[in-house]
Amino acid sequence: MSQPPITTASGIPVADNQNSMTAGPRGPVLLQDFHLIEKLQHFNRERIPERVVHAKGSGAYGTFTVTNDITQYTKARLFAEVGKQTETFLRFSTVGGEKGSADTERDPRGFAVRFYTEEGNWDLVGNNTPVFFIKDGIKFPDFIHTQKRDPQTNLKSPTAMFDFWSRTPESLHQVTTLFSSRGTPDGYRHMHGFGSHTYSLINAAGERVYVKWHFLTQQGIRNLSAAEATRIAGSDPDYAQRDLFNAIAKGDFPRWDVKLQVATEADLAAWEARTGWNPFDLTKVWPHKDFPLIPVGVLELNRNPLNYHAEVEQAALSPANVVPGMGYSPDKMLQSRLFAYHDAQLYRVGTNHQHLPVNAPRCPFHNQQRDGAMAIANGGAAVNYDPVQAAGSNPQGMGHGEPALPQSGAAGRYDARGKEDDYTQAGDLFRLMPKDEQQNLFDNLAGPLSQVSAEIIERQLGHFDLADRAYGAGVRAALKARGVNVG
Ligand code: HEM
Repeated sequence: MSQPPITTASGIPVADNQNSMTAGPRGPVLLQDFHLIEKLQHFNRERIPERVVHAKGSGAYGTFTVTNDITQYTKARLFAEVGKQTETFLRFSTVGGEKGSADTERDPRGFAVRFYTEEGNWDLVGNNTPVFFIKDGIKFPDFIHTQKRDPQTNLKSPTAMFDFWSRTPESLHQVTTLFSSRGTPDGYRHMHGFGSHTYSLINAAGERVYVKWHFLTQQGIRNLSAAEATRIAGSDPDYAQRDLFNAIAKGDFPRWDVKLQVATEADLAAWEARTGWNPFDLTKVWPHKDFPLIPVGVLELNRNPLNYHAEVEQAALSPANVVPGMGYSPDKMLQSRLFAYHDAQLYRVGTNHQHLPVNAPRCPFHNQQRDGAMAIANGGAAVNYDPVQAAGSNPQGMGHGEPALPQSGAAGRYDARGKEDDYTQAGDLFRLMPKDEQQNLFDNLAGPLSQVSAEIIERQLGHFDLADRAYGAGVRAALKARGVNVG
């Protein structure tokens, strides 16, 4: 492949990129060899901090096409008409492992989609699971510490994981998913994606509905057995990256059907009265029989990034990025996330991370933010203060036309432990599994559980029993088969 001649970063042609400038053929090297110095300096600065979670990932661009009219629910222009297309970017990831960890580890998978809409970037930063381990963001750093390395041994610690989960029964629903075969999906193309949280949509009349987003794989669900996942972790740790890149490179574009569950505030109040479940609790699903899936569109991934670091590593998505016609919800977890992502990216990528091509909106943007490191899009000669007539805020913008949300209740720290049902939906998921899948679940749990103390095992078994006696019995039997003495 022909390459253009090498220059310095300042564009100055480099005479020789193979031989340092030396005093005589044997050296020493001269300080004036600026090209050598610049080359070494830049190399030393090549890494940025990896994401604090979801460090290992793969990304691709694509197209979202509207197939069904949902304008009764939202005025967001990307849904304005059937057939309308919006450019997208999707980053898949594992959660707990480092940037070099194996793609097939047992873990939820990140499913973070950006829609480059004409009204700004909408980011739906979800997972391949509809629920999560915790329901309050204050627990997130603790939970993640149990998934990362032990401070002393620098090893992953089943003790820390099951100590946390067994003391946090709200995790049971997601733990049941994680240790089923869905905890080891076969690459990124054969799994669903979920927005997981409840979000809201607002229509042109200013009416709000609550929604959950679903991305159902057209490739069909395919999972790896625990043994296959372990084998591939050794033989091809970048298995999912390779699979995604190669599929797109050869024109076999993966697709997901985008669907929506919709509920009015009254629907949710009635559902809560009937089930006792808080509709904004991230450890719960909205059952499809109560809130059927409505088709919305199709997401297709059809273009590989040209440069991994620039376009995938530096991608900075945030659940706070919603466009007019959309809103958040009272979900406590979501509220923490609205803060966490931009903050992480200010540190990980930099003050002006939104100026980078993968992060910049495809529509014009104007604000009064100026300067800072790497200010690429710095507003030119435009005024840098508000309010002025020309730069005033936009009556069609985010938050405008959103009906006021009544709030009530005394400020306080409300402990849900023991007061909310953490078991029924976990049991329902267990009862939905075919027998062989239940057996996988027992075996997958017994592996790490067999490495922790009797006290933790008993505490965790108590939760399985409360979800379903057969669940607890199955894990007990699998532990006994491993020689663990359980009651
Ligand atoms: C990444 C925080 C819960 C999905 C991240 C990052 C942070 C974070 C700081 C790194 C962002 C970056 O550097 O770009 C949190 C906090 C949570 C939480 C504080 C709870 C309060 C969740 C949940 C989901 C999720 C519930 C899924 C439903 C993701 C994904 C990424 C991510 C997919 C990777 C995004 C990408 O590909 O760039 N999270 N997270 N997180 N998180 Fe969360």
